[in-house]
Amino acid sequence: MKNFRNIKEIHSACRNCKSCNLSTSRNNVVVAKGNPEAKMFIIGEAPGEKEDITGFPFVGRAGKMLDAVLESVDIDPLNDCYITNIVKCRPPENRRPSSSEIKSCISWLDTQIEYLKPAIVILAGSTAVEGYLGIKEPITKIRGSWVVKNGVKFMPIFHPAYLLRNPSKEKGKPKWLTWQDLKKVKKELDSI
Ligand code: URA
Repeated sequence: MKNFRNIKEIHSACRNCKSCNLSTSRNNVVVAKGNPEAKMFIIGEAPGEKEDITGFPFVGRAGKMLDAVLESVDIDPLNDCYITNIVKCRPPENRRPSSSEIKSCISWLDTQIEYLKPAIVILAGSTAVEGYLGIKEPITKIRGSWVVKNGVKFMPIFHPAYLLRNPSKEKGKPKWLTWQDLKKVKKELDSI
């Protein structure tokens, strides 16, 4: 990790990044939002259109869904979390980021994690799980179980955009399962 003196320096260096082709089409680098002192990170996939315009992650429809599921277990999205993405710039047409884009970008996330030292990390969706932990299993299999790496507890959950497409709250459906997963996260958060 480069010698950054504080999180502001990390954020501003990241905003000047030109490590991959996504820097040529972006409007803004979407670094993070929330509380850098929070015990918990949330990591999504990549910025969408609204995120690219505003410079903040999860401000569109998926972001509203993320806020709602967090609030359902009494987690405050801005105070209790530091929220970011695997890839910091919007892939054109909201396509999935390529593995070379993830490879170019991952050092920013490593730096954020090394510097802020979260105890818990929620990985939202399979791109985040594969991109950070290298686990290729379907999200339906791995969600809901803690993965411990370097002393950090990672919780894979469904991506909020998937919950928008599957809005039923019925027992056993994705939204209900996410609620169970987040109840585990809240319990762990309260125990730290
Ligand atoms: N907005 C983000 O910032 N990340 C996602 O993964 C989806 C929407």
